[in-house]
Amino acid sequence: MGINCNLTAANIPIIMNLKISSFEEYKQVYQQSVEQPEEFWNGIAENFQWRKKWEKTLEWNFKEPKIEWFKGAKLNITENCLDRHLDTLGNKTAIIWEPNDPNEDHRILTYKQLHDKVCQFANVLKNNNAQKGDRICIYMPMVPELAIAVLACARIGAIHSVVFGGFSAQSIADRIQDASCKLVITADGGFRGAKNIPLKSIIDDALVQCPTVDKVIVLTRTRTPVAMIKGRDVWWEDEVKKVETQGNIPCPAEEMDAEDELFILYTSGSTGKPKGVVHTCAGYMVYTGYTFANVFQYEPGEVFFCTADIGWITGHSYIVYGPLSQGATALMFEGIPTYPNPGRFWDIVEKHRVNILYTAPTAIRSLMSFGTDLLKDKDLSSIKKLGSVGEPINEEAWHWFDENIGHKKCPIVDTWWQTETGGLMISPIANVTKTKPGYATLPLPGVQPVLVDETGKEIEGNGVSGNLCIKFPWPGMIRTTYGDHERCRTAYFATYPGLYFTGDGCLRDDDGYYRITGRVDDVLNVSGHRIGTAEVENAINMHSSVVESAVVGYPHDIKGQGVYAFVVCPEKHINEELTRSDIAMTVARIIGAIAKPDKIQFVTGLPKTRSGKIMRRILRKIAEGETSNLGDTSTLLDPAIVDEIKAGAL
Ligand code: PRX
Repeated sequence: MGINCNLTAANIPIIMNLKISSFEEYKQVYQQSVEQPEEFWNGIAENFQWRKKWEKTLEWNFKEPKIEWFKGAKLNITENCLDRHLDTLGNKTAIIWEPNDPNEDHRILTYKQLHDKVCQFANVLKNNNAQKGDRICIYMPMVPELAIAVLACARIGAIHSVVFGGFSAQSIADRIQDASCKLVITADGGFRGAKNIPLKSIIDDALVQCPTVDKVIVLTRTRTPVAMIKGRDVWWEDEVKKVETQGNIPCPAEEMDAEDELFILYTSGSTGKPKGVVHTCAGYMVYTGYTFANVFQYEPGEVFFCTADIGWITGHSYIVYGPLSQGATALMFEGIPTYPNPGRFWDIVEKHRVNILYTAPTAIRSLMSFGTDLLKDKDLSSIKKLGSVGEPINEEAWHWFDENIGHKKCPIVDTWWQTETGGLMISPIANVTKTKPGYATLPLPGVQPVLVDETGKEIEGNGVSGNLCIKFPWPGMIRTTYGDHERCRTAYFATYPGLYFTGDGCLRDDDGYYRITGRVDDVLNVSGHRIGTAEVENAINMHSSVVESAVVGYPHDIKGQGVYAFVVCPEKHINEELTRSDIAMTVARIIGAIAKPDKIQFVTGLPKTRSGKIMRRILRKIAEGETSNLGDTSTLLDPAIVDEIKAGAL
């Protein structure tokens, strides 16, 4: 399967194969993608279905920034994910759903069934006054209806904003307000391991602060008692019935411009307020479809199990849009890896004959800690390819994954990317790129990484490290931060003018292979979740007895990074432990349980410079257990505080 693409004949649309089949071909295609990016992407985009083709492939500058791909094209992403497969793959499985409780029946949705359900729910949305351009917040458990809701929004051109089920009422309210959402789709509750999460009740708390929302559609999942407010709250099932009695009329897909907004997904940065990352229709579709097909070398009929939640970008791109646009079978799992026991992933692999397993280092490390006994009588022979995402994978976890799950026969694609990049950026191509433990290896075609020093000067050559930037646009990239374009510019394009700055540190070794070393800004990566230290500090400071706090990360065996909080809390507490729990509870209330500090150290002051800046470098070292070699502390306002903090370190 070669690349049958003549890139010099730019005017003749030639379909370029999505999949690269040898390393030689990778080198050639990569070169072409850098020298003639527009022609390259034209060839890739020919693999998708368009109502109208584009007039211009790319218009851009990283100054404003302005990024427009496939300008003038008309499409609907759901026609690519559903309608275009109906003739050939209508009876093939689109989604396999595995419930939290292994004793509950799993569900299968064929492309035809998924198409019908998406159309039906799209009509429900229309009946509830949703229109093209409206923002819709989705706060749901990992059930097929979550994917249906996402696709139904895209079908009618409404912009979805999915909020992960672990966020608090306050976080949801912030996100709903920021995007002025008009409708919320939720469920009575959600099952996650032994827990039953009262989703609707959390939404009710959030909506007290959200006057823009006039409708809430509630799916039945746990059948927990819920408040249903007249005129505002309706049951999903009742609304579907109404559509059925109306005769289940088809729901033609809304015609969208290439650069119409497809969705908003909030993510943390170095300031206190999460940013609404905006992705648009055409570029995101092309990029996720292409990277899915190419990196995982997806073969028809293979079962692809991405263990992420649809509440994060990984679930958007590699459970919903990427696999479905390629006619793949995606497995969606409602539960957690350790419920009802830590062999659950392996049971799922065996039960559904999973061929590609895409998961996070934190899950691998957690399962590793239970030993290999649980693997003894599991049949993992269906697995052909493995993937990792979300955080740097340590070598020990890489080898464990390789030996015990892949039996040294399956490539591991360590995929580096971000919410802002939309899809995979630096990654091996399965069975094409030679892998190296801990390395995301090489940039995918169309991706032009550069390393820069603190001043923004490009660091060339190999065997070097620096801050990772991207110097040329790719179709899946962020277009703006919702409602605040200036914030997008300052967060990503102003640090190093002319470059997109990722916020990651990176090493390029002697082979030119990339290894991501972690964030260089004030963002933590806890169990693969991005958490801003400023956000956690704001939440801690909401506690009535806290005066001030500073949050840093520290190495954590399972989570990758743990949250370490230094808290100034002058009142003498009768029970320090209880105050710690109260502070953690406050963070759970303000952000969500995922941001709870793992360690809270009470201090009488923080190490600050004379200008009042907290010296986090020192706190980071103390949190990491380093007590000598703290660097220069002479510029501190009160150097004695460092000794006190060191002495009390947890
Ligand atoms: O620091 C990098 C880390 O996760 C960050 C992006 O987080 P988020 O937007 O939540 O998206 C996670 C899923 C794509 C990056 O800035 N990261 C992601 N993948 C890797 C990684 N770090 C090292 N290796 C990876 N493969």
